[in-house]
Amino acid sequence: MQSELPQAEPFRIKVIEPLKIISRKERERKIKEAGYNLFRLKAEDVYIDLMTDSGTSAMSSHQWAGIMMGDESYAGCRGFEKLKLSVKDVLGFNYVMPTHQGRPAENFLFQTLLKKGDVVPFNVPFDSTEAHVMVNGATPVECVCEEGYNPQAIHPFKGNIDLDKLRAVIEKEGQDKIPLIMLTITNNTGGGQPVSMANMRDVKQLAEESGIAVYFDAARCAENAYFIQQREEGYANKSVAEILKEQFYYSDGCTFSCKKDALVNIGGLIGTNDKDLYDRIVPLMILYEGYITYGGMAGRDVEALAIGLHEMIDDEYIAYRVRQVERLGKMINDNGIKTVLPIGGHAVFVDAAAFFPHIPQSQFPAEALAVELYKEAGIRSIGLGALAFMKENQETGEIIYPKMELLRLAIPRRVYTDNHMRVVSEALKRIYDRRDQINGLRIVSAPPMLKHFTSVLKPLNADHA
Ligand code: F0G
Repeated sequence: MQSELPQAEPFRIKVIEPLKIISRKERERKIKEAGYNLFRLKAEDVYIDLMTDSGTSAMSSHQWAGIMMGDESYAGCRGFEKLKLSVKDVLGFNYVMPTHQGRPAENFLFQTLLKKGDVVPFNVPFDSTEAHVMVNGATPVECVCEEGYNPQAIHPFKGNIDLDKLRAVIEKEGQDKIPLIMLTITNNTGGGQPVSMANMRDVKQLAEESGIAVYFDAARCAENAYFIQQREEGYANKSVAEILKEQFYYSDGCTFSCKKDALVNIGGLIGTNDKDLYDRIVPLMILYEGYITYGGMAGRDVEALAIGLHEMIDDEYIAYRVRQVERLGKMINDNGIKTVLPIGGHAVFVDAAAFFPHIPQSQFPAEALAVELYKEAGIRSIGLGALAFMKENQETGEIIYPKMELLRLAIPRRVYTDNHMRVVSEALKRIYDRRDQINGLRIVSAPPMLKHFTSVLKPLNADHA
């Protein structure tokens, strides 16, 4: 039997954006000027930008045609009718509230459903989602299965909720304090790990027995559906479109940052079949996002989103998308470098603690690796470890470090080729070969919260540099 042909992009390139490659010497200067914080770099000084897969997709010729068709009417724009149809077709919801990105959708949902003292069980919340729960006086509680915290544990659905943990939270807090349970699909914070259909079904059943609603954070719901198709019994012969729609059957609605799977550079939405919820959110939409038919987007962006929602469920596309990320992960693993396993849907998460066993968390191994990767090849990534997530015990002043120290290489959709991925893997290997010569970082100045976005750092061996 002939073996399968190699997988290649199910598209060809029509427009290119030239990239500049500055010299290593210049990169060393730029990163020093940026306070050793990659957020503070100018994007034009980056060669391969893997900081995020959010809002960084390449749109298709259909979407660009949609941009030209965009109807900029204040109320009732044509794009909204198309968006309603797409949301009904693809996600299965009757009501759609467009927003300019994911977090206003979270803000509106939580403002409407939560009251002070409430508790919201999650598998794991994304950081802006967690913050929106807290701003509304409620407490998020993580209920992800234990494998979800162990980078090396092999499990097909490390984003699953542990039902015993969830039951314990419901028993302890009482259902009156729990207006909703939220599932992040896929679990970004834990490595882009999916939630199984069986888990969604079980969570919904448990929630229903307790009179609690279930919402999804749907940012990467198509990647989640692809993993179900590949890994869950009974789904191998179903299309991603069918699986995606079945997923939402086990929810009461979703918030959706469309800047990820839906292949647009800006946009978000709330989808639901709950007319009462819709009626309660409409005034907030008008207050914060403008009219309900454009929700903070230009009419042309609404049009591109209506098209992107259909493109994300194309089986060829989504297989190419997730497998490109997997190929990068495999190349990195083949060089002996540890990552979160299995490789996630949107990003490879390198285990920076394992990469630099000699750098303690207090010296920010994930950021140290991000800085080296930029110096080595102009690649921008993001550290997700102590700098982003450490917390101070208010009473004792003790620093509580996060369980994992990860470097995220998030792959924008339809943007980079496998040759770019080879550069990334080779650059990491070179750093790995001289890893024991690399030191950690210290904080020169940092804001009290959300430190990783703006803090200024310095290599520990370079006080005179
Ligand atoms: N939920 C998840 C799971 C996310 O990953 C993000 C954003 C949001 C919600 C918020 O959506 O940015 O449109 O307001 N994640 C980006 C990232 C920023 O890089 O992972 P937003």
